[in-house]
Amino acid sequence: MGRSVERPLFYMTLANRLLEGLPKQALAPLIDRRLGQLAATKYHSALSAYAADPAAFIHDCVDFPAGEHPTPYQTEVLERLPVEKRIAIRAPHSAGKTALAAWLTLWGVLTAPDVKVVTTASAWRQLTRFLWPEIHKWARRLRWARLGRGPFSQDEALDLNLKLGTTQQAFAAASNNAAFIEGAQAQRIIYIFDEAKAIPPETWDAAEGAFAGAGSDTAKEAYALAISTPGEPAGRFYDIHSHKPGYEDWWTRHVTLEEAVAAGRVSAEWAEQRKAQWGEGSAVYQNRVEGEFAASDSSTVVIPLAWVERANDRWRAWRDEGAKLGRQTALGVDVGRGGNLTVVAPRHGNIVPDLHRSQVADTMHVVGQVRLYRQGSRVVVDVVGIGAGVVDRLREVGIPVVGFNAGARTGATDRSGELNFVNLRSAGWWNLRELLDPAIGADLALPPDDRLTGDLTAPIWKVNSSGKIEVEGKDEIAKRIGRSTDDGDAVMMAFTTPEMLSEEELDALAKTTPSRFTSSVEGGRWGRGEKRGWHE
Ligand SMILES: Nc1ncnc2c1ncn2[C@@H]1O[C@H](COP(=O)(O)OP(=O)(O)O)[C@@H](O)[C@H]1O
Ligand SMILES: [Mg+2]
Repeated sequence: MGRSVERPLFYMTLANRLLEGLPKQALAPLIDRRLGQLAATKYHSALSAYAADPAAFIHDCVDFPAGEHPTPYQTEVLERLPVEKRIAIRAPHSAGKTALAAWLTLWGVLTAPDVKVVTTASAWRQLTRFLWPEIHKWARRLRWARLGRGPFSQDEALDLNLKLGTTQQAFAAASNNAAFIEGAQAQRIIYIFDEAKAIPPETWDAAEGAFAGAGSDTAKEAYALAISTPGEPAGRFYDIHSHKPGYEDWWTRHVTLEEAVAAGRVSAEWAEQRKAQWGEGSAVYQNRVEGEFAASDSSTVVIPLAWVERANDRWRAWRDEGAKLGRQTALGVDVGRGGNLTVVAPRHGNIVPDLHRSQVADTMHVVGQVRLYRQGSRVVVDVVGIGAGVVDRLREVGIPVVGFNAGARTGATDRSGELNFVNLRSAGWWNLRELLDPAIGADLALPPDDRLTGDLTAPIWKVNSSGKIEVEGKDEIAKRIGRSTDDGDAVMMAFTTPEMLSEEELDALAKTTPSRFTSSVEGGRWGRGEKRGWHE
């Protein structure tokens, strides 16, 4: 590849030589015009050389960092695309999916005279934060000389756009804008679906229009690349991978963890750590590490992974908007027992900015941690074991504290008002579940932290024989997954509501709550707690 591009360069050099010594001023316009023509010729011959061969384009025209090159599975996709037209890849996190999408975008826009590359993703953020920066990253590594043109100008390369004149364009489109996606017209259309697992069906259907007019018997070309870490076994991305009737036109590929590790893209150590953290059978491990579809069934898991991921997206958005925090409203404290860490989770309204973990297990140290991170907020402490001493000591020094006794009875009900809970722990976890449920309109923001994510998605639940919701006990979980879900419990406790607590617990809290907090009016959702100084 690339041999046909050398000739115009030769002529340009020759033309320069011949013109040497002649009155430059008179000849300048002539020279400019000729050089322009030659450069155009060179560009177009480069174009045609690579137009049907993305693998050669990436191989020849991308300057990879030392020791790096396309992985075998990336090359396979590049080679298959011209033949298969529609390709769907599921792969582990960090396997190189978005890089592949970026390469195809560059190939697509540079090697055809009339082209539109439409990039979309489940979340707009995926385009602005990952795919488009990745496109610009690889654009900086293009061997422009091979392409017979200079680097993209400022007008050509925008944040979410490549515009090479009016006929060669790549752009970002929101995945809920099917009409816009359907409207793209060009001789060559390429659809890039990044993190495709949650792209709505209308968007997939909108792309199909382009395929109807394309084929070996027409002058039009259409391609689609859908890539994702898989999620629940549901939705179009899943239907395509499971070859449901109607999706036979897609060529699918599962990039395995072994392949990604062998190619040096995924660290075996990272995979092992996730296995220890999440458990091999967990949906989160299957999805993100093995690149397989797996259900975190919301009827048994208290909090599905997808809900935590949304809370993480809100946290990132909050951070990107300047990480502004209001007053700290609560501090959840899970006291380390039997060698586990003590975890402190500060909460500012609906935001948990970060967790603080420490290897401390005696009363005074935990009290020290509480003083360090309390910031004037109420404190909710796991009261079992040495937690009891912590609660006593905090009350003694006048810090408003709730002793969270996981096994205590509770009068709280679920959102429907119909289901009661076996104990306080179940009510606490269920409350967190409802706060994260997108169907209810969740706005909690939680830090993207692998351990916390593993903890939040660990507990399972059932309705017990007396019709109450029972969330798996902490010790049962520890037996099942081999570790203690301290991070998850600290966050859960930070969201304790007055409705969950007994009158005695609320009274004890009121006694240590400064009077300036206790004057608020009765009523509202938190009426029961407001008069006791409960503030959200
Ligand atoms: N073949 C490759 N050679 C060099 N770097 C690569 C290659 N494939 C991916 N990368 C880089 O590795 C990182 C992770 O890849 P990415 O495509 O974002 O993974 P994924 O989308 O599968 O999670 C990115 O910085 C990307 O540029
Ligand atoms: Mg990616």
